[in-house]
Amino acid sequence: RTVSILGAPIQTGASQPGCIMGPASLRIAGLGDILTELGWEVDDLGDLSIAPQEPVPHKNPAIHDLAETRAWIEALSQAAFDAAQTHDRPIFIGGDHALAAGTLSGLARHAKTQDRPLFVLWLDAHPDLHTLETTTSGNLHGTPVAYVTGQPDFEAFPPLEASIDPKNFCMMGIRSVDPAERARIKQIGLEVHDMRAIDETGVLAPLRAFLDRVREANGLLHVSFDVDFLDPGIAPAVGTTVPGGATFREAHLIMEEVGDSDLVTSLDIVELNPFLDERGRTAKLLCDLAASLFGRRVLDRMTRSF
Ligand code: ARG
Ligand code: MN
Ligand code: MN
Ligand code: MN
Repeated sequence: RTVSILGAPIQTGASQPGCIMGPASLRIAGLGDILTELGWEVDDLGDLSIAPQEPVPHKNPAIHDLAETRAWIEALSQAAFDAAQTHDRPIFIGGDHALAAGTLSGLARHAKTQDRPLFVLWLDAHPDLHTLETTTSGNLHGTPVAYVTGQPDFEAFPPLEASIDPKNFCMMGIRSVDPAERARIKQIGLEVHDMRAIDETGVLAPLRAFLDRVREANGLLHVSFDVDFLDPGIAPAVGTTVPGGATFREAHLIMEEVGDSDLVTSLDIVELNPFLDERGRTAKLLCDLAASLFGRRVLDRMTRSF
């Protein structure tokens, strides 16, 4: 079975530079070799790039780097569509989370050609649910979920060929939500498990319920993994740390359970900022988490019968 790895060194969606080095850091930490050792046929497609852009103004003056981010989204959307057509499990390594506006729009188009619904497991401290009107930071990595679910005020982004039903999202790890995002979560009916919910139920119960939904719908499943999902104590290399994140064990358990389900069809690893890392520890942890998703197990065991 085949995996593709595509680097997307986009950092225009974030406020702090550094995500441009994310793909290099994940490769140096051994992502490709780890997956090869697990038995996958790995195709490293190298890094995507965009042409220089003329600045594009926007009526929301907070927004920065709109033209570059738009160009990344356009390029990524096509690249994700192509990768999904040619590989069993494309991986997209960022790069900031604006990357997901591109990958999810391309994967939604791919899902449409398969006549299957696309589901998204969103692992993040943030719901990234701003529109271009409501973002006050102007950091476009805070907008991909609103864009791909077809919310208004995205005229400045590429037109969406296929949107994703908000009901097909499951968010976990959420612990930093802006007022406009909070209102939108309610309005569009997103399934959000904040850290309190995870403390109350653990990660497995809501995760298994979601995976059952994906299976019943014969859906494709994309996992979008933002480094700030993890607790900053184990994953310091991210510009938007929020205390109280997922533990090492919660994160591996989620990856193992999703891996065991065999439902996952694509993965983003985003927001790694190697400039903020400590001797590569965050990059190495992300590679180990990817390994759990792609089948590495401590012991052979009977998996849950679904
Ligand atoms: N909600 C905040 C903002 O819009 C934080 C977004 C953080 N997003 C991320 N992908 N790290 O600025
Ligand atoms: Mn900024
Ligand atoms: Mn994010
Ligand atoms: Mn985040």
